[in-house]
Amino acid sequence: MKELEEFMETNTGSQVGMSVSAVAFSNASTVSHTSDRLLELDPGTCTDALGRQEFGIRHTVADHPLLSLEAIAELADSLPSGAVERHEANQPLLVPDGCPDLSGPPSETVRTIETNGRWMVLWNIEQVAAYRRLLDAILDEAVPFLPAREGGMGRREAFLFLSAPRAVTPVHFDPEHNFLLQIRGLKEIHVGRFPDREWERRELDRYHNGGHRNLVEIPPRSNTFRMQPGDGVYLYPWVPHWVYNGPAVSISLSITFRTRRSERVEFAHLFNGRLRRRGLSPRPAGESEYVDRVKAGLTSLVAWLLRGCRRQRGARDYG
Ligand SMILES: [Fe+2]
Repeated sequence: MKELEEFMETNTGSQVGMSVSAVAFSNASTVSHTSDRLLELDPGTCTDALGRQEFGIRHTVADHPLLSLEAIAELADSLPSGAVERHEANQPLLVPDGCPDLSGPPSETVRTIETNGRWMVLWNIEQVAAYRRLLDAILDEAVPFLPAREGGMGRREAFLFLSAPRAVTPVHFDPEHNFLLQIRGLKEIHVGRFPDREWERRELDRYHNGGHRNLVEIPPRSNTFRMQPGDGVYLYPWVPHWVYNGPAVSISLSITFRTRRSERVEFAHLFNGRLRRRGLSPRPAGESEYVDRVKAGLTSLVAWLLRGCRRQRGARDYG
């Protein structure tokens, strides 16, 4: 616990000019698990916040055998090379063009993560049946908590993040709904908020024009979550965030999904990006649900044809 307190003091308020409107923190020693559920979700919080606002959660998968370092090392070697990404762990907060990839046997990067100064992600681990079952078991618990406005859950995907002590993940956003579950070590996640629509649109358009998901500017900080094993955070699609690793190795499991609503907006953004590359100025995504539906339908149809009429990786029926 002393280690956690020192870690908290190190990073709190470390971004000059940023506001902190709330601090979320759960102390593992004061939380007991009263059921065999994998996620502890509050129905009221999910109804109000899912798709709109980040919130802290608790989980019970930190000791799962599939998430031990050795199991992850074996998983890393079994994945296709495109599912393994590695780079130096020590990054500035702003890296708008991303970081150079590193090479070598993936399992070696996992086994030496304590000392190798690396940051590593294993993308789409649901390609391996055992991990797909774990993903489904976790998300099946979340389905009843999904508010009706989101229109059902689909495209389930899971990622594993390993990072060396004191690693920094630059400011970025992701297109998915994300339950980020801390498995090992300490991690501090800062969540930002775009102060206006223009700033948000600038970053979303840049990304959908083919840019990196790392942001160009750091938006004001709105929330901080300090996580130890058993803690987690829900992040809604496109929310800016950045991460400081604690003084030991960190492992986090990212359990993600799309909803009909989030995928409609995402596809409308992709459609707009294609139009902009042809010199057009389309209506921004999110302004008209009807227009977004048409754009999303066309984007989905083109993607399906380009895949040779096959279902998308990670896809599930929305229900
Ligand atoms: Fe992220």
